[in-house]
Amino acid sequence: MQISSLLIIDVEYVEVGAKGGKNLSSSSAGAFPDLHDPRDRRLPLIAPPCGLVIFGITGDLARKKLVPALYDLANRGLLHPAFTLIGFARRDWSSAQFEDFILKSVQRYARTPFQDATWNQFKDGLRFVSGTFDDDGAFDRLAHTVRELDQTRGTGGNHAFYLSIPPDYFPSVVEQLARSGLNSEHGDAFRRVIIEKPFGHNLSTARELSQVLRGVFDEEETFRIDHYLGKETVQNILAMRFANIMFEPLWNARYVDHVQITMAEDIGIGTRAGYYDGIGAARDVMQNHLLQLLALTAMEEPVTFDSADVATEKEKVLSAVRLPDNLAVASAVGQYSSGWQGGKRVCGYLEEDNIGPDSTTDTFAALTVYVDTRRWAGVPFYLRTGKRLGKRVTEIAVVFKRAAHIPFEDSSTQELGNNALVIRVQPDEGVTIRFGAKVPGVDMRVRDVTMDFGYGHAFTEDSPEAYERLLLDALAGQSPLFPNQREVELSWEILDPVLEHWAQSGRPEPYRPGTWGPQSAHHMLARDGRQWRIP
Ligand code: BG6
Repeated sequence: MQISSLLIIDVEYVEVGAKGGKNLSSSSAGAFPDLHDPRDRRLPLIAPPCGLVIFGITGDLARKKLVPALYDLANRGLLHPAFTLIGFARRDWSSAQFEDFILKSVQRYARTPFQDATWNQFKDGLRFVSGTFDDDGAFDRLAHTVRELDQTRGTGGNHAFYLSIPPDYFPSVVEQLARSGLNSEHGDAFRRVIIEKPFGHNLSTARELSQVLRGVFDEEETFRIDHYLGKETVQNILAMRFANIMFEPLWNARYVDHVQITMAEDIGIGTRAGYYDGIGAARDVMQNHLLQLLALTAMEEPVTFDSADVATEKEKVLSAVRLPDNLAVASAVGQYSSGWQGGKRVCGYLEEDNIGPDSTTDTFAALTVYVDTRRWAGVPFYLRTGKRLGKRVTEIAVVFKRAAHIPFEDSSTQELGNNALVIRVQPDEGVTIRFGAKVPGVDMRVRDVTMDFGYGHAFTEDSPEAYERLLLDALAGQSPLFPNQREVELSWEILDPVLEHWAQSGRPEPYRPGTWGPQSAHHMLARDGRQWRIP
């Protein structure tokens, strides 16, 4: 894993072959004279000469995240000058129309400033292929374009295919890639496929999907995006745990009372009914982001930060996850109703555009799990996620036990809660430690205070977007930040019984916008004598 990139002081420029990326140092700046200063301390990787084909280039994800992230990488000098982007879509666009579409997306959504030099370089590598997924001719044209780019731009036969399309279309696309020979690499060159969730609807469909892909691309050539793993604050979980001495000794059942992992959003589903309805919060977010956060929080130190070693430790955690016997009280499921949020009247889920009046899709999901290992024996991990909640926040709160003995009067410590370490994944990125301190004055009164590390204060540079990191890693062939098929299946093994339980227990419980979810979520913790944090 590029955790090393968080810690590296200086690195040599080392070409590791087309199949891998390159590390660069200050001495490498001259290697790409027509790009901007590529000395980036956090991302010392650069993609080799290559092309990326995006299926679904006109979709929201490509327009708002992928294209801007590619431009930002180019702007930071992390893409090779030969990089090319091929858009594949149904529209009958000319090259100029495609270029205009990409330009607008960059101008509107890129994180880094617009620079003519970067744009000119980037736009020279743009190509558009119009066609549908069942059109052999279109894929033949795509194959031709790819060959032409290898010859004219020096992409060296290295190409990745990003399926930014609904999974129902995956079989047609991968079949076409195989038919037109686009999946076969030559010599040292690479061919990769990058896919977006949902990776199936349950364990069995996840396996079917994997079969489809496996016929055409190897596991090492398959990159599954979980964009949470591309977030700096998520990668920092490992830096914090394994590069320091002071946290790890406490990171176990002896000292930890419980862990709360929250991913809350204040928005509703917006225009995403087509994707969201029938999927819901648990499949959309818990199956991937929340269980990945759990795995990183609970895992043992990997032998190295190579993908295989990191995956081994994550898989161990996911395999050790146990659901409580009584899911009726150890889980909660909800659906937002209409109400007020942020001073505005908002509609309920059932009144959203293109949602049927009987939809039972969950927009809130909470779950208690245990990790049956010696380190975590008996420690509940409470996971929750939802739309239209109090505010947008993602955090991991490790809540510690009370000290075995406190040598002060009870009255002195009435305002003292449990010590806690809170990893603030977003939006106010950082880490907070909560502990008791004496309130100034003549009596011994101990009250909770916090100690804060904030990215905004500690670092001068803004964090890159998750997609910048993940696209760069996929093009550079670095895979520790991508969950493998085993992790996907283990996550479904955890969730399938919960989803079945919810399917049998009737409608999700309604909750008001701007609150922290349905009553059952509060009861879930209250019965354990605990309460959710209000982040
Ligand atoms: C996506 C989900 O994976 O994450 C969306 O499909 C959700 O429903 C989004 O809105 C949230 O991402 P972030 O990075 O804004 O927390």
